Amino acid sequence: MTAINVVVNGKSYTREVEPRLLLVDFIRDTLSLTGTNIACDTSQCGACTIHLDGQAVKSCTVLAVQADGSTLTTIEGLANGKLHPMQQAFWDQHGLQCGYCTPGMIMAAAKLVEENPEITEAEIRHGLEGNLCRCTGYQNIVAAVAQAAKA
Ligand code: FES
Ligand code: FES
Repeated sequence: MTAINVVVNGKSYTREVEPRLLLVDFIRDTLSLTGTNIACDTSQCGACTIHLDGQAVKSCTVLAVQADGSTLTTIEGLANGKLHPMQQAFWDQHGLQCGYCTPGMIMAAAKLVEENPEITEAEIRHGLEGNLCRCTGYQNIVAAVAQAAKA
């Protein structure tokens, strides 16, 4: 076991972890922050996307020990007293159906818009290529990201 310290959604945690534990499993099982979903477990779907030191990353591709000393934001930490504009836009534009992809999609989209507030539809579609949705057909997701960018 190895001790790691991370700040997640503004709160500091020190925990002993197995060296092989994935970050997504650390977030969900060790910290009980189950808003981050896990689906493929092989870096294909993006359901596990979080922010790690300011970058959107698929947390199934990172070991928990690699995040030692890092600052993380999960979907639970995105809202700040009220819904984040990206969350509100997904609500307004019906950008979800089953919701399984949604936390990761919102985390990826929030970072995209933060980095490129003038984002175009083509850039939204390209930027979300690593986040798969099996329900919506993407049209409402793209509309939601465009709304959030305007906000
Ligand atoms: S669960 Fe991480 S990319 Fe699919
Ligand atoms: S809303 Fe069901 S997978 Fe995206």
